[in-house]
Amino acid sequence: MQTVISDINEESLALASKIIREGGLVAFPTETVYGLGADATNDDAVRAIYAAKGRPSDNPLIVHVPPEYDVSNLVYITESALKLTKAYLPGPLTMVYKSKGKVSPLVSCGLDTLAVRVPAHRGAARFLRAAGVPIAAPSANVSKHVSPVTARHVYDDLAGKIPLILDGGSSCGGIESTVLDVTGEVPVILRSGLVTFDMIKAVAGRCEYVHSTDGPVRSPGMKYKHYSPRAETAYFERDRLAEAVSEYKSALNRGLSPIFICDDKIAAQLEGMEYISLGSTSEQLAANVYTALRQAEKTHNFIIGVALKGDSQVDVGVMNRFVKAMGGKT
Ligand code: TXA
Ligand code: MG
Repeated sequence: MQTVISDINEESLALASKIIREGGLVAFPTETVYGLGADATNDDAVRAIYAAKGRPSDNPLIVHVPPEYDVSNLVYITESALKLTKAYLPGPLTMVYKSKGKVSPLVSCGLDTLAVRVPAHRGAARFLRAAGVPIAAPSANVSKHVSPVTARHVYDDLAGKIPLILDGGSSCGGIESTVLDVTGEVPVILRSGLVTFDMIKAVAGRCEYVHSTDGPVRSPGMKYKHYSPRAETAYFERDRLAEAVSEYKSALNRGLSPIFICDDKIAAQLEGMEYISLGSTSEQLAANVYTALRQAEKTHNFIIGVALKGDSQVDVGVMNRFVKAMGGKT
């Protein structure tokens, strides 16, 4: 299959809509990362998503709808979810509700809940409107690889497996949406993202982080290896920079080509060594982390991560991805 990358215009949207109606896959931009979309009401189309990504079939998908869509068609909305919707949607917040069972059961892998997201990206909204059905979409990367933030990243992973990639430029957010379980009295963060704990608490009154050890996994995605660059990796806390530098040097001696990924403050201490700095604010760290990982794996075979430090709670989400990518423990 030939994979076409196209700007978002009348013609490409008509093609996207046709592909979706026929049960096919379309990659599309959002403000977080690119998604791999299919008709959420069509079992075969949803199955095709899992197949194209090589995704385990017990890791549920998020359904995407445009801002004007009435989400109560799909799920039971709670009071706190309504407040959070008014405050933060459209935007990088996915909420997990009790499902009304209106989409393919394969979307939620048989769970009685459904994750719904309303992206803030204009191109995403245009695609979702053209599709005219709720769109099930995971991040548009091969399973376990780094999430894509450009059309080119999607192409690198999925060329030959999907017919169309809608190109909406670089995703400005850079990390996936916050996933929030709103089925209970207290909203529970299942995956950290750009909508932070404090932002949720300010609107809903309460908020908790999921405790991943108590009972069944509430967000099945969290149990898998994720965001892995195709290179050897090592990870160091900031106060162990000297050890990171010896690791770099010993890698050079072993004939490897090492590179650091870090923030500006650490980069300033790496004279004469190769590095990619993600910047200094939390927004910069989030926006640059996946591009840096994908860039580093192309040119180097050993990536050394040093813990990142920005200026806000967004760091929780960035570090969660970064530490996993570097093979460390969160
Ligand atoms: O920003 C994003 O959320 C991107 C863009 C494309 O929208 N999508 C994305 O999808 O990151 P994916 O499939 O890579 O991650 C979805 C996460 C997984 O951790 C999954 O386990 C969780 O959401 N999830 C989906 N449905 C769920 C449900 N019903 N209950 C609990 N967790 C759920
Ligand atoms: Mg993903």
